[in-house]
Amino acid sequence: MARVLITSALPYINGIKHLGNLVGSMLPADVHARFLRQRGDDVLYICATDEHGTPAELAAHEAGLEVAEYCRIQYQAQADIGRRFGLSFDHFGRSSSPQNIELTQHFCRKLDEHGFIDERTSQQVYAIDDGRYLPDRYIVGTCPHCKYEQARGDQCENCTRQLDPQDLLDARSAITGSTNLEVRETRHLFLRLDSLQDRLSAWIGQHQDWPLLVTSIAKKWLKEGLRERSITRDLAWGVPVDRPGFENKVFYVWFDAPIAYIAATKEWSDLDPQNRDWRSWWYAADDVRYVEFMAKDNVPFHTINFPSTLIGSGEPWKLVDYVKGFNWLTFYGGKFSTSQRRGVFMDKALEEFPADYWRYWLIANAPESNDSSFTFSSFSQMVNADLADNLGNFVSRCLKLTQSRFSAAVPEGGTPDLPEQDLAAALDTKIAAYTEHLSAMQYRRAIDELRAIWTLGNNYIAHSQPWTVVKTDPDRAACILRTCINLVRLYAVLAWPIIPETAGRILACLGVDHAQPEWPSLPAAEELTALAPGHAFEVPPTLFQKIADEKVAELIERYGGEE
Ligand code: 2FM
Ligand code: ZN
Repeated sequence: MARVLITSALPYINGIKHLGNLVGSMLPADVHARFLRQRGDDVLYICATDEHGTPAELAAHEAGLEVAEYCRIQYQAQADIGRRFGLSFDHFGRSSSPQNIELTQHFCRKLDEHGFIDERTSQQVYAIDDGRYLPDRYIVGTCPHCKYEQARGDQCENCTRQLDPQDLLDARSAITGSTNLEVRETRHLFLRLDSLQDRLSAWIGQHQDWPLLVTSIAKKWLKEGLRERSITRDLAWGVPVDRPGFENKVFYVWFDAPIAYIAATKEWSDLDPQNRDWRSWWYAADDVRYVEFMAKDNVPFHTINFPSTLIGSGEPWKLVDYVKGFNWLTFYGGKFSTSQRRGVFMDKALEEFPADYWRYWLIANAPESNDSSFTFSSFSQMVNADLADNLGNFVSRCLKLTQSRFSAAVPEGGTPDLPEQDLAAALDTKIAAYTEHLSAMQYRRAIDELRAIWTLGNNYIAHSQPWTVVKTDPDRAACILRTCINLVRLYAVLAWPIIPETAGRILACLGVDHAQPEWPSLPAAEELTALAPGHAFEVPPTLFQKIADEKVAELIERYGGEE
């Protein structure tokens, strides 16, 4: 039994996340956590809201609330929507927790003790009309390298180069558009990433097995040469800097956010004395495998900044063992956008269809080696063909037929023959491939196998024709339907990481463990005899409703997609 620590990038507190956020972090992490739990691993899946930084301040201001109150409300909303999407966090914490404040300050102290913190005066843009210092990303202007006109003061989205606000041409406040800016002197703490460069390079070098997307981003940063980065800000909201002269400053949100992975584990541990000590997951935790899930814009922070914090502390904190990075999910080829409310958001998604419809499409189309595009027609085609026709019909057909020709119990009679042997052999190959892809977190490939596994069942029943055979050879028909009902059980077990609600419903109708079914470990021929003759079942109501063309048109109208 392996101990596996899983984290997914912490969603920003400012509003319900969209499908792009979901598929780039929390959903695949959930699938991984569920799959490993089914296999018997000791899994700890941790996530939290990322509550600091200017976006939270601005969103609270817009809502007319104190930031802390705004965060409390939004935290509840995100925790609730995560539950409704079946995200099986062991703990969903908050980066504003006392645990995170304490740990963030601890890391800064340790980094300082080891000589990785410089305190110096730097120049910061002050927006005179806004009456505040502007964080780097709230200054926009023209990139000096590629001339992109919407470059932000921290990074150019177009050429991905790191920038300082002073590099921008025609700088202005992104909050008010004011160009009445001046550079003021202010004291800040700087993390000496440059002094940690060699150790980071060596560490990244040990991870040739990571996705190319991830290593190429990390290596690009290392090649450009790491620069020291400021880890404090002139803001009121955030983790306070416990250092004389820093009374009105807080840590930079990207310094404290990843530390919140650890702090949220401590929250989990503090909540219940039964929970294993949080340190055993994070500190000198050589027996733990740590896997992180995130979209590509987060990769530098998880492969450079956060590991620097951990390494530079001089303490044996757990470093990530595998980083699963994702490209972008687009909405009709364009950006999903929180600020412009473009795309489908998690709350609206659940008003339209059950979580499993979305989970399935998103995992089947995970932007792994390329960006992928969400469209309602692709969504409806896949839900209709794979979930309604391929899986749903098979389940109801087998169970209804058995109920009407025999009874609502696994029928007795006949013995498996050549068609069952062929089916089992094909299943053995495909289940092995599916398991391998899930282990490797190759989600598109995994779903290709799952779909093929469902198709095997449909081909089997179509060729064996139990509805005809039953008239002349009831024993043979019983054997076929017994095999089919066992296939239904197997399908639900295999689909559980992806569509847990439906899988659980099927298993409940079959009267077997539906909370966390064990991953199949026996040869398919034996798995297909798990439910013995006489085992009672219920026929579930229709599992998936097909999505009609009119509904697709309505959705396009409502959400603004363009075919
Ligand atoms: O990009 C984002 O959505 C960030 N809130 C992710 C933070 S991940 C972690 F490091 F906290
Ligand atoms: Zn640029």
